[in-house]
Amino acid sequence: MRRLAVLGSTGSVGEQTLAVAAAHPDRFAVVALAAGRRIAKLADQVRAFRPALVSVADAAGAAELRARLGAEAPEIAVGAAGLEAVATADADLVVAGLVGAVGLAPTLAAVRAGRDVALANKEVLVMAGALVRREVAARGTALLPVDSEHSAIFQALAGEDPACIARLILTASGGPFRTWSAERIAKASVEEALNHPNWDMGPKITIDSATLMNKGLEVIEARWLFDVPPDRVEVVVHPQSIVHSLVEFRDTSVMAQLGLPDMRVPIAVALAHPERLPLDVPRLDLAAIGRLDFETPDTKRFPCLALAYEALRGDEAAPAVLNAANEVAVESFLAGGLAFPGIARVNAAVLERFAAGEAAGTLRDLEDVTAADAWGRARARELLDAERGG
Ligand SMILES: NC(=O)c1ccc[n+]([C@@H]2O[C@H](COP(=O)([O-])OP(=O)(O)OC[C@H]3O[C@@H](n4cnc5c(N)ncnc54)[C@H](OP(=O)(O)O)[C@@H]3O)[C@@H](O)[C@H]2O)c1
Repeated sequence: MRRLAVLGSTGSVGEQTLAVAAAHPDRFAVVALAAGRRIAKLADQVRAFRPALVSVADAAGAAELRARLGAEAPEIAVGAAGLEAVATADADLVVAGLVGAVGLAPTLAAVRAGRDVALANKEVLVMAGALVRREVAARGTALLPVDSEHSAIFQALAGEDPACIARLILTASGGPFRTWSAERIAKASVEEALNHPNWDMGPKITIDSATLMNKGLEVIEARWLFDVPPDRVEVVVHPQSIVHSLVEFRDTSVMAQLGLPDMRVPIAVALAHPERLPLDVPRLDLAAIGRLDFETPDTKRFPCLALAYEALRGDEAAPAVLNAANEVAVESFLAGGLAFPGIARVNAAVLERFAAGEAAGTLRDLEDVTAADAWGRARARELLDAERGG
C-alpha cells in the first residue's frame, strides 16, 4: 500500500491522479489533499478518499469545506502553511500537481522531509532546478516525472547508462496555432488558445502550449531532471502526440515511448514505479492512426521556445525570471488584458532587462529564487501597466 499526498488535487493532474488511485484501492491510500478554491470538488474527494488532512487556499474556503462536510471533515489547514503540511504529511509519495511558482516551496519541503515526489508542476524545476537536484541528491529521495514527455524519456532510459545519452528529443504537439499564420495568431482569442488539439489540461499549461512556452519550460525541466546540458535537449513538433519523446544514444540508436495522449498513463508510471499497473484506458492502434508527422519548430511564430534556451544559457536565475514574467503575462491574457503575441513580447522584454544585469543572477537558496521570481513578476506588471496607460 503506497500512501499518497496530492498537491493540487482539484486540478487536471490531481483529478487524474485520484482516478488512478481509485482504480487501484489495494495499492494506494490517499492520506492528504491540497486544493485551492474549488471547494465543492474537494469535498467530493474527501468523501471518496477519506484523507486525514486537507488544505485549501484561505479561511473562507476552510469554513465552506467544514460546512459541506460537517462531522465528516478531516483536519483542515490553510494557505502556504497548509500546502507545506500536506507536502510533509506521513506519505510515501507526494504528487506535485500545483501549477506555477506556488508549488516551489511545498515541493522543496516534501523533498527536505525525505518524501519521494511525482512531479507534474514543471515550474518548480524551471525556477530552481539546481537547488531541487541538490536537495534530492542530499536526501536520497526519488524525483519521478509526470509530464508525458519526461515520463517517456524516463522510460526510454530504464537500464541505460546516462553517460551514453547523445540527445533528448522532446516532442511538441505544436498547439492549436501550429498551422496558423503570424497575422492570424496575432488576433487569436482566449477561447481559440484554450482549444488544445490533443490534451485536456488546466488553463495555464494550455496557453503555454499555444505559445510553445510549455515546450520551453519542458526543455529546462528535462535539463535538470536528467542532468543533460541544454544543447543536448532538442524539440521536434509531432502533431499527433503519439510519440511522447525520444532519447538518442551515442551509437545513434533512438528509443521512444508511444501511446495515445492520456495523462493517466505517465501518472500511473510515476505512482507505481518500478512496477507497471494494469490500466483501463484506450490502447494504441498504429494502423488506425496511419501516419506520424514530424516538423522543426518555428521560433519566429513561437518565440517563447527560443526564450527558454536563452534563459538556460544565461545566469542561473534567468529561468526563474522568465517563468515569473510568463505567469503574469498568461494571467493577463486569460483575463483579456493582453493580446496573444503580448505574452512572448513581455517575456522577451523582462528577460532582456535581466540579461542587462539589473538583478542578481545566482541562486543559493529558496530566498534567492523567490527574489528572482518577484523581480520578474514586478517587471512584467510594470510593462503591462505601461501598455495599458499608453
Ligand atoms: N494537465 C495536464 O495534463 C498536465 C500535463 C503535464 C504537466 N502538467 C503540469 O502539471 C501542473 C498542474 O497542471 P494542471 O493542468 O493540473 O493545472 P490545473 O488544472 O489548473 O490545477 C492546478 C491545481 O493547483 C491548485 N492551486 C493553484 N493555485 C493554488 C494556490 N495558490 N493554493 C492552493 N492550490 C492552488 C488548484 O486548486 P483549485 O482549482 O481548487 O483552485 C488545482 O488543484 C502544471 O505545472 C502543468 O504544467 C499538467
